[in-house]
Amino acid sequence: MTVTIVGSQLGDEGKGALVDLWGGDADVVVRYQGGDNAGHTVVEGGTEYKLSLVPSGAVRGKVGVLGNGCVVNPNTLFSEIDDLRDRGLDPDVRVAERAHVILPYHRVLDGIEEKAKSGSDLAAGTTKRGIGPTYEDKAGRRGVRVGDLLDSDVLRDRLEYVVPQKRALADAVYGLDVDEGEHADAFDVDALFERYRAIGERLADEEMTVNAGDFLGNRLDGGDELLFEGAQGTSIDIDHGIYPFVTSSNPTAGGAATGTGVGPTVIGRGEVVGIVKAYLSRVGTGPLPTELDGNKADEELADYIREKGGEFGTVTGRPRRIGWLDMPMLRHATRANGFTGLAVNHIDVLAGLDAIKVGHAYELNGETIETMPSTTERWGDCEPVLRSFEPWPEVDWTDVSESGYDAIPENAQAYLEYISDELDVLIYAIGVGPDREETIALANPFEQ
Ligand code: IMP
Repeated sequence: MTVTIVGSQLGDEGKGALVDLWGGDADVVVRYQGGDNAGHTVVEGGTEYKLSLVPSGAVRGKVGVLGNGCVVNPNTLFSEIDDLRDRGLDPDVRVAERAHVILPYHRVLDGIEEKAKSGSDLAAGTTKRGIGPTYEDKAGRRGVRVGDLLDSDVLRDRLEYVVPQKRALADAVYGLDVDEGEHADAFDVDALFERYRAIGERLADEEMTVNAGDFLGNRLDGGDELLFEGAQGTSIDIDHGIYPFVTSSNPTAGGAATGTGVGPTVIGRGEVVGIVKAYLSRVGTGPLPTELDGNKADEELADYIREKGGEFGTVTGRPRRIGWLDMPMLRHATRANGFTGLAVNHIDVLAGLDAIKVGHAYELNGETIETMPSTTERWGDCEPVLRSFEPWPEVDWTDVSESGYDAIPENAQAYLEYISDELDVLIYAIGVGPDREETIALANPFEQ
């Protein structure tokens, strides 16, 4: 069967802890979208591994697959694999031949486009990993796919077609010197060809490339359990998120089908678990109706939650914006993904506060609405209808995680029950601390 883990908010919901928890029961861990804009920390045997591309299961001896919906920076891929090998591991990572390759000019263009947009309402605050420009080329049918790296004639043809366009864009639109200086190699067909042909050779030597749909289909036929590891979150999905402040892929559950070649009926017969952070965090720009800002008390509270929850970007180190839990956002995510279960993280971070609030609904033009409007401008006009919850005290969360659900302070239980009741979805796990062991498992999706 398959279990798909999806971020229900804006990314950084703590999906990694659940991938760790349930990945133990999986044979193959698959990423279906995004690239090295994601960041996850895996702790195995007391050692910490920071990964942004390699699926975290690879640290645990599982097969890790990057599906066709991913955009792959081979330099990041090899540097993560080499690092894991240096640390004594033997990761087994397969890459879809249909996945698109992030080339150096994508990263350069991501950086200069964000710079050009800075100060305007359009800046998305990207991770500058070249994600958007690579997906643009995929949709524009001028991308380079992993399979193209294996065939030097095809690779040369692709580069000869696309690189002059990129040079013209960088030069004429952004005024970048593409012939001299630090970016020259990024726009040079010969340099790119040599470098990426060598990458193709390494991928072939290590037998890393696969037809992802066939590979995963065969695994399923053989009785393997598959865990699909979504990156980012529903509200930064290119279709269902707060466009244009979104990433360029589909973190939502449908992406698990299109991004791997496993059919939607197979994914739908499995479990789709939404990962919820008990409050909101946002790295990047755009509106955020339940944001804690605008007055000193709220900003101090945001600072406190940010520090306590370690809310700084894993990839970029940027401080994250903080807000109360947003229920319209979660209702939207529940419908868009068809969640069969939830995991709620970080309830410990809210412990000891004087008051806890939740954005239960929005007020928009005198009307109360319960889901997100489809334009980001209208979303920005929404005033949250806040509901107060009784706060819960600071307790020894390690004890709580050892004792189980009943040891969770009553008011926190009421908060969890409210979320589950509102969304009409059961909670499978609760994160009560930063360590991976500090997760209370109520149900295992592989056993549902
Ligand atoms: P990109 O994915 O680098 O193109 O960035 C687009 C938007 O998605 C920006 O607002 C990023 O901050 C956001 N984003 C990308 N990856 C993540 C992530 O892993 N967690 C949270 N936000 C992300």
